Amino acid sequence: MSGQYNLIATTAFGLEAVVARELNALGYAQQRVEDGRVRFPGDAAAVVRCNLWLRCASRVVIQVAEFDATDFGELFDRTAAIAWEDWLPVDAAFPVRGRSARSKLHSVPDCQRIVKKAIVERLKSVHQRDWFDETGAARGIEVAVLKDRVTLTIDTSGDALHKRGYRTASGPAPLRETLAAALVLLSYWNRERPLVDPCCGSGTILIEAAMIGREIAPGLKRSFAAEQWPQFPRGLWDAERVAAAAKVRPQLAERLIGTDVEERAVLAARKHAEATGVADDIHFQRKALAEFRSPRKYGVLITNPPYGERIGEEREVEQLYRDMGRLFEPLDTWSIYVLTAHPQFERLFGRRAERRRKLFNSTLACTYYQFPGPKPPRHDGRVTSMPPHSR
Ligand SMILES: C[S@@+](CC[C@H](N)C(=O)[O-])C[C@H]1O[C@@H](n2cnc3c(N)ncnc32)[C@H](O)[C@@H]1O
Repeated sequence: MSGQYNLIATTAFGLEAVVARELNALGYAQQRVEDGRVRFPGDAAAVVRCNLWLRCASRVVIQVAEFDATDFGELFDRTAAIAWEDWLPVDAAFPVRGRSARSKLHSVPDCQRIVKKAIVERLKSVHQRDWFDETGAARGIEVAVLKDRVTLTIDTSGDALHKRGYRTASGPAPLRETLAAALVLLSYWNRERPLVDPCCGSGTILIEAAMIGREIAPGLKRSFAAEQWPQFPRGLWDAERVAAAAKVRPQLAERLIGTDVEERAVLAARKHAEATGVADDIHFQRKALAEFRSPRKYGVLITNPPYGERIGEEREVEQLYRDMGRLFEPLDTWSIYVLTAHPQFERLFGRRAERRRKLFNSTLACTYYQFPGPKPPRHDGRVTSMPPHSR
């Protein structure tokens, strides 16, 4: 092991470029972007900082080894040759996850079993014992095989990064926090502009926006697996947390607005905003979309309406999309963004999107329809430049 690690920020498909931009902003510009992951070199501080600050990545993992293997013997030998004792204390629990695509080693359970066995054999010979209780803190290992190339990683995050710790109540079909943050970062919103979600559910999009607007680190209120590892001393975590807490900006000048037809959703949204410390930045209210009006100019509307995939829901959802088209038409200075899996969204909404982006809501393929409006004039009457994250 050295002071420099080969790090990987894993992402949901479609979010790689957003995570790459986040890494750039954190100062990690040397990257290789691949499907579902962004590789970059970094030291212990990078592991801490990226866990605390990446809003759209799924996990931060360390690449322990990478090699070609086309049979299980090779997989075993190459894995057993790694100094796992440097990573795994004698009591560590080390569950092995796996995935495989376009490779001779296509059986994921077998890959997991072989890697587990190879690590155990290695540890047996190093520690001169036959049995490991695995009663200590978990260190998740992943074996990923892509086109016969094996990547072995160890997970520094523990719980996936979408688990910020604020979601305690369940709402109808909530978005992952990482995806909600990406919807905001892909939009034209910044803390100076109005922001509305008229189908806000448990409030995820607006809570993530409030955290972005106030520069609240998404990981500030949770812990990470690598906090228990000697390579990442406690002082490093404490220092990064103190620095992150000092960055938090004051309350947003303009409250974000979230409405939903379901009282239960609004109650959950308020609870989550409270838990995040952004309750005063967002106004949540029970209201049907049909009542939506706004006299404001240059606002941003980001929403994730129901998709109508459940039987009996189709008609209602189609009508909702038609209503959205009619109600949003007067908002000619607004930028509008809709995430849905409904294949007929644009036809029902009555407008073709200027940009579309394929994103996954868990495993469901969705499209992020983008209708960017004009940029707001600056106070001196000139047009503002694009916010840094907008694409
Ligand atoms: C897919 S969920 C949104 C989930 C949300 N993004 C979250 O992370 O919790 C869609 C939401 O639209 C709401 N909804 C459905 N029909 C509506 C209507 N006519 N007016 C307002 N909200 C509606 C539902 O109650 C539900 O909360």
